[in-house]
Amino acid sequence: MNHWSDRVADIDSFKVMDLLKRAKELESQGHDVVNMCVGEPDFSTPEPISEAGARAIQAGHTQYTPAAGIPQLREAIAGFYQQRYGLDISPERVIVTAGASGALLMVFATLANPGQTFMMADPGYPCNPRFLRLVEARGQLVPTTADDNYQLTPELIEQNWQENTAGILLASPANPTGSVVSREQFELISQTVRGLGGHRVVDELYHGLTYGLDAPSVLEVDQDAFVLNSFSKYFGMTGWRLGWTVVPETAVGEIERLAQNLFISPPTISQHAALAAFEPDTITILEQRREAFRERRDLLVAGLRELNFEIPVTPEGAFYVYADASRLTDNAFDFCWDLLEQDKIAVTPGVDFGEYRANQFVRFSYTTGVEQIEKALDRLRKRLS
Ligand SMILES: Cc1ncc(COP(=O)(O)O)c(C=O)c1O
Repeated sequence: MNHWSDRVADIDSFKVMDLLKRAKELESQGHDVVNMCVGEPDFSTPEPISEAGARAIQAGHTQYTPAAGIPQLREAIAGFYQQRYGLDISPERVIVTAGASGALLMVFATLANPGQTFMMADPGYPCNPRFLRLVEARGQLVPTTADDNYQLTPELIEQNWQENTAGILLASPANPTGSVVSREQFELISQTVRGLGGHRVVDELYHGLTYGLDAPSVLEVDQDAFVLNSFSKYFGMTGWRLGWTVVPETAVGEIERLAQNLFISPPTISQHAALAAFEPDTITILEQRREAFRERRDLLVAGLRELNFEIPVTPEGAFYVYADASRLTDNAFDFCWDLLEQDKIAVTPGVDFGEYRANQFVRFSYTTGVEQIEKALDRLRKRLS
């Protein structure tokens, strides 16, 4: 008998992994599978960043750095807040991390005591409750609908607040729904949670990937919030494992101490590469990609709506469409398997993102090109006609 810890036994894998495995199998048998499962840009890292990474290796930047990151990068990130949001953030408050994942673990470990909960929207990014489980706390999933823009609202927060709630986690733009929290809504939510004595943690990982608007940062209205961000998505650096968190001045020492112990330092080569992420040439490339994502979103949302998927709120950001398939099936999980086996389209079932009405939903990623999206829509059209 194995004696693994209870906390690890409680951590689920993604349901989509079996589906992905089967998709790979089908591909190796020569089938043309359209993959709309993945949560990373199909574009590779912009060249100026990769070249800076290569130069860093050649220059011998291969040893540990300070636990909170190299000062030049912390300054560059702080500068980005000035440029994008007009915010003065002291570089001291920026802690560079091993992806947003590293930041989530440290922030939750810092803010949640064993037995406490963090409130978050259902549907949401599935790893959040699992990070909390690791620190003997819990994710408190609150059902949200299109009427709430799939986000926690001040009313939902008040209704669901418990004695052991340590705070709330918001994601804007959100995975899987692509919904964005407005500045006014941030203000109201911050006021409510502050009044209840709770922490505000906001995942701003998909910033830069919004279409027709710029997502506001919670820091515009709440300097005591904890913000998570990453080089993974907008900057196209998933494999470099680099992110950051902006924390209140009073928490810098705590997070830094954790970072020293858990990670020693964020990846050195990646940090040097990321210095090129804010250069004008890189931003030009990233903004072109953003336009490509907007085009894909428009195509996919219109196509799915035509096919009778319900998408009551147009996703404003990230690269996902969370589509209600209940007019087409009463079991979205089986529906996803049928799409894969019969039509060779790989999509993610809603059950990977929560519990509330999850088996009515399917997440489509538009991390694949327009031609592939058209192909998927054609196949769906044939199946559903
Ligand atoms: C909402 C959200 N938060 C955090 C992460 C983790 O990202 P990373 O660790 O690559 O920065 C992801 C990855 O898909 C995500 O979708």
